[in-house]
Formats: sequence, C-alpha cells, structure tokens
Amino acid sequence: MITASAPGKIILFGEHAVVYGRPAIAAPVTQVQATATIRPGGHGIIIQAIDTHETIALDRAGPNHPLAAIVRSTLKHLGIFTADLSITVRSTIPIASGLGSGAAVSTAIVQALAMWTNTAVDEATVNALVYEIEKLHHGTPSGIDNTVIAYNKPVYFIKGQPIQTFTVACPFIVAIGNTGIAGPTKIAVGDVRKNWAAQRDQYETWFDQIGAVAQAARAAIEAGQIERLGLLMDRNQELLRAITVSSPELERLIDAAKSAGAAGAKLVGGGRGGNMIALVDESNCDAVVAALKDAGATSVIVTTIQ
Ligand code: MEV
Repeated sequence: MITASAPGKIILFGEHAVVYGRPAIAAPVTQVQATATIRPGGHGIIIQAIDTHETIALDRAGPNHPLAAIVRSTLKHLGIFTADLSITVRSTIPIASGLGSGAAVSTAIVQALAMWTNTAVDEATVNALVYEIEKLHHGTPSGIDNTVIAYNKPVYFIKGQPIQTFTVACPFIVAIGNTGIAGPTKIAVGDVRKNWAAQRDQYETWFDQIGAVAQAARAAIEAGQIERLGLLMDRNQELLRAITVSSPELERLIDAAKSAGAAGAKLVGGGRGGNMIALVDESNCDAVVAALKDAGATSVIVTTIQ
C-alpha cells in the first residue's frame, strides 16, 4: 500500500487579476491535506473518491472526469498502459472553498502513482500534469494553485513565467475562516471574464491595482514589514469587492475578524463563498478565531506563513 499527500493553499494577494497576467502570492496550508492511497489488486484501475462518494472504473470514465484524467495522464507519463489497482482519494480540504482542493487531489494522485512505480517525478513535471487537470476544473486557470501545491512552498506567481520563491523575513500568522458556502472557482472566474469583456478598461485598471498590491506585499514580506500587510489585505479586498467576487457571508467574517483586532482581512481564491483570511498576531489570534466562529465560520484554521 502506498500513500502520498499534498497540502491545501491560500492566495495571500492577487487572485483573479493573476488570470490576466498580474502577479499573485500564494502559500501552502499543511493543516489540510489531500491523500491518495494505492492498493495493488483487483481488475483494472478503480478510483474511489471517499468525500464525493464516487467509485470510478478508469476504462469507463469519460475523458473530462478530472480524477480519471489525472490518473490517465500520469500513467501515460510513467509509460504504464495497464494495471490492476485501486486508488483511494480522501481530502480534508473543503471542496469549492478557495483552498485548492482540486489541485491538491491531483498532486497527491501523481505522487502516489510515481511512488508506486518507484519513479522520481520532479516538481515541474507534477506541476505540468496537474495544470492540465486544472483546466478541466476551472476553464481558464492561471496555474497558481497547481504551482504552489506542487512545489509546496510560498510563491510569487506570474502566469506563464518560471516559479519565483521569496524569503519570508518575519513569519506571520493568518486565521482562515470558512463561510461554509460553496464558491465554485469556475463560476466566479467566468463571471469576472464576462464583466471584463463588457467593461475592459475599468477591469484592466482594477487588475493593475491588484497586481500593484501583490508587488508591494512581496516587498513588505521580504522586508519583514508585517504591519504593512494588513493594509494591503484590506486594499486587496476592496478591489475584490469591486470585481464582484465578495459575498455577504465573506463580508460578515471579514468584519468580525477586523472588529476582533485583525490587522487586515480578505477573501481567498475564487470568492463568492469559500474562505477568507485575517492577518493576526499572538496577542489577538484567539479573539479573532472566537469572533469568526461567533460570526458563523464553519471552521477556522490558524497557519503560520514562513
Ligand atoms: C483560484 O484559487 C484563484 C483564481 O485566481 C483563479 C486562478 O488563478 O486560476 C480565482
């Protein structure tokens, strides 16, 4: 039996504008994980997705089923054309919540199959395989989710450019609050694209401003100027609101976190639901977590970015 796992992720700055070529910053969240377990035996290849209660026979699945597609492309990469095994997929990363569940599940599957065949598959290859499946999940993904999860480190990401890592001069803490409402990334990204097509100049300006926030945030993180990050998160959230991807539930959690002392807060990922993050420190972390739960967060994760 072989098991591999991959973390969730948060976008600290720059979601949506990153689809249009602006920079964004993302970091892995190891408190939530997707795992893939391989057991040899049986007839053919069976994928069991525990969380979605699906059992998929690979030879009967359609070409666009994301789990079947990542298994097929990985086996092709490994030069394997037939096998008898079962792949069980589990995830503690909530689906459609902005934490990268799709990319993490795909990454865990690639890594488990590589381990099963004793083949070293480098991060760039994992990234490329997972990106193809992200297109099935999201339509026009920037590639940031697969990159941060495949490399499992904080990244400064610009679509189509080589991965850039950076130094976190002073670790900082974020609380991640879940609205409990599904916010499918594909729908949010599609709506932003429609709005952009209708009001191109306005959206290009907002995307430029989001990109400038991400650039300034990188400088602040590298300089250890954590106090600047709170203001930058707030500014990023104003712009996310402008491009219509916030929601009343996200705003309620953001307000609660700020009232309890968070230095800044914003939604993460596609938005419209899913998760938000708040910048906290040791003195106000417990109060912010309690305030998020009081305001209706279905779960709160505290993670340190380092
Ligand atoms: C999704 O985690 C982030 C978005 O910017 C979409 C993407 O980058 O592909 C909303």
